[in-house]
Amino acid sequence: MDNVIDKINRLKEEKNAVILAHCYQNIEIDEVADFVGDSLYLSQQAAKTDADIIVFAGVFFMAQTAKILNPSKKVLLPRMESGCLMADMINYEQLLEFKSQHPNIPTVCYINSTAEVKSECDICCTSSNAVKIVKSLNAEEILFLPDTYLGKWAEKQVEGVKVTTYPGYCPTHLRIKAEDVIEARNLYPKAKVLAHPECHQSVTALADYVGSTTGIMKYATESSDKQFIIATEKGVVDRLKRDLKDKEFILIKDNIICPNMKWHTIEDIYNALAYEQYEITVDKNIAQKALVCIDRMLEVSK
Ligand code: 13P
Ligand code: SF4
Repeated sequence: MDNVIDKINRLKEEKNAVILAHCYQNIEIDEVADFVGDSLYLSQQAAKTDADIIVFAGVFFMAQTAKILNPSKKVLLPRMESGCLMADMINYEQLLEFKSQHPNIPTVCYINSTAEVKSECDICCTSSNAVKIVKSLNAEEILFLPDTYLGKWAEKQVEGVKVTTYPGYCPTHLRIKAEDVIEARNLYPKAKVLAHPECHQSVTALADYVGSTTGIMKYATESSDKQFIIATEKGVVDRLKRDLKDKEFILIKDNIICPNMKWHTIEDIYNALAYEQYEITVDKNIAQKALVCIDRMLEVSK
């Protein structure tokens, strides 16, 4: 009897499918994934794949973005429960209300948002390119949503731009407090602190490096330092420990886990491929408008 990994690999070949996995996923999914990385990397892979089926081991907005980029392909999310709590903090009506309070200002949406929200924004961004995207607009003021902390962090990196943010946030990253950084530094005085920009500004202000999930992994790989305190979701620490055995990685505090990212199991990936479930669909008009917002980001990020 073949094991589940062999079965998945056979189905991938038979059906010309590709598996994209975010680096917060359960680590065993990497064994069957074709590409593992941050939101930007995965959307770039989704934009250029030749596969007929895309299985997205990530959260709903990631699979939805892949579908918008590939309207004629089948995009599958193995567990429909995998939503993003931050993306759900702003809906279409709330966006229109926010925009009406600040008329005629360019609007940047974090990729962690729904297709409806993207359809009414000027350009999208991820945590790895937020600064570049804000700069690309050449505006004195921009609106940024839904993540207030990423927006405020980007504002600090770009001189002369006022960033007005929507009050959304990531509950997982907000569990990390400045006291946790201070405590971890006391315990590991030689360690470098690497933080995700979704963290509160009191946390990013204390970090040695702030970047996306892939940015954090690249920094740790290239650094000559040997010990790192990681202020983001545990999946990043799991992968760093697996890949860089000569270095030490400490999760800043216990249970920095995004429960929604952890739904997918290897068995769910198998079921997704075998039964072609659960298929993501996006209304055509919304998808066309959202595509403009996503394509602008991909163009700036080339
Ligand atoms: P990245 O863009 O770093 O992959 O982050 C996505 C995300 O949801 C972080 O919480
Ligand atoms: Fe959304 Fe936060 Fe989970 Fe990222 S970690 S998917 S922002 S809830």
